[in-house]
Amino acid sequence: MLKGKKIVLGITGGIAAYKAAELTRALVKEGAHVKVIMTKNATEFISPLTMQTLSNNIVYTEMYLPQSQYDMAHITLAEFADAFVIAPATANIIGKIASGIADDLLSTTIMAADKLTLICPAMNDRMLANPIVQENINKLKNHKYVIMKSGVGELACKTIGAGRLPEIPEIVEEIEKLLTPKSLAGEKILITAGPTEEPLDPVRFITNLSSGKMGYALARVAHRQGAQVTLITGPANLPLPDVEVVIKVRTAQEMHKAVIDNYKKATVVIKAAAVADYRPKVFASEKIKKDDKPRSIELVRNPDIIAEIGKNKTNIVLVGFAMETRDLLANAHEKLEKKNMDLIVANSLREEGSGFQTDTNKITIIDRAGDVQSMPVMTKIEAAEKILERVAGLMKKKGGKKK
Ligand code: PMT
Repeated sequence: MLKGKKIVLGITGGIAAYKAAELTRALVKEGAHVKVIMTKNATEFISPLTMQTLSNNIVYTEMYLPQSQYDMAHITLAEFADAFVIAPATANIIGKIASGIADDLLSTTIMAADKLTLICPAMNDRMLANPIVQENINKLKNHKYVIMKSGVGELACKTIGAGRLPEIPEIVEEIEKLLTPKSLAGEKILITAGPTEEPLDPVRFITNLSSGKMGYALARVAHRQGAQVTLITGPANLPLPDVEVVIKVRTAQEMHKAVIDNYKKATVVIKAAAVADYRPKVFASEKIKKDDKPRSIELVRNPDIIAEIGKNKTNIVLVGFAMETRDLLANAHEKLEKKNMDLIVANSLREEGSGFQTDTNKITIIDRAGDVQSMPVMTKIEAAEKILERVAGLMKKKGGKKK
């Protein structure tokens, strides 16, 4: 999503300035063009050469250059940017912007800019809590600057408190969110993700290889596109996406209850979870002890959650997945019809870069009109974008949003 986006990164003079190097790397990795402005104080903490090397661009530090190099940077950078990011943002730059002061290249460029601007405060906790700083932050919010909440933890001065620069992936996600068109605004999307675990006894369970990556990518992208997202997740060892509601479940029966309790409020339901079709009939309350006899486990059926929604479906868009090891498209077609889905996303364990645990997927989207859209291997985030593009198309056709 950041591919080709133009970002001007302002770095001010705080100890977290060194983290701007990592941020630049992450943005460039996502395909963004990054140009850096450093204040004089920032150059005390990190070298312009580091930022030049990581951004692949010259770094702007001076307002006044010799005639031969003067390029009106405060205007050209303001025009160049799709978004401005100030990270770390000191109390000083926050105060200057709030007061309309333009006395160096960064503050002058910000004054000349009318683009989305994300400000990531980082400072000592008492400085952050200072009512004047808070007043300035609130003033900036009222003027449509986006202010990220600082992290809480150990600060450079060794105290514990609020004032840390937010984690780099959080800043990148916030930039993604700012730059994503809100094509799903007003939609309420319920997404399931991850595996389920079906316990045999207190130490053993039956599960599958789902990591939750596909479902979490869908949740993340839907949220970026302005939807209100409820994520119902089985046990997954991943950072939770920033969405409105997260419900953690373990078993298929718990997932069933969570989905049934919540899906009627949704306009879209997407079932990316790998739900166990069966569970052990008996749960042994104590650890099962071994002996010399062979053992078998009797299994009983779990509820088919998506089939139940499909049966009672009214005005929602219902999207399912099909994970197959053979006859991918035939099986997917059958599930689409039988479970009354609007779209099915087929992925095969047999295809390179596809399926469980990978960061990529190779998906085929099939709709009720029989249209089959096969796609190359792409990241799960890109796959989520493709799926949600189709969902947005269907929502447009259906018209009307639940209030
Ligand atoms: O989590 P990752 O590691 O990123 O892997 C992603 C994925 C492979 C898990 C994902 O892309 C995927 O294919 N999810 C669905 C896996 C699956 O259970 O497929 P299925 O063909 O068995 O089920 C068909 C549909 O019925 C699915 O939408 C499933 O959520 C749903 N289902 C299945 C069983 C059940 N009891 N209730 C259900 O609702």
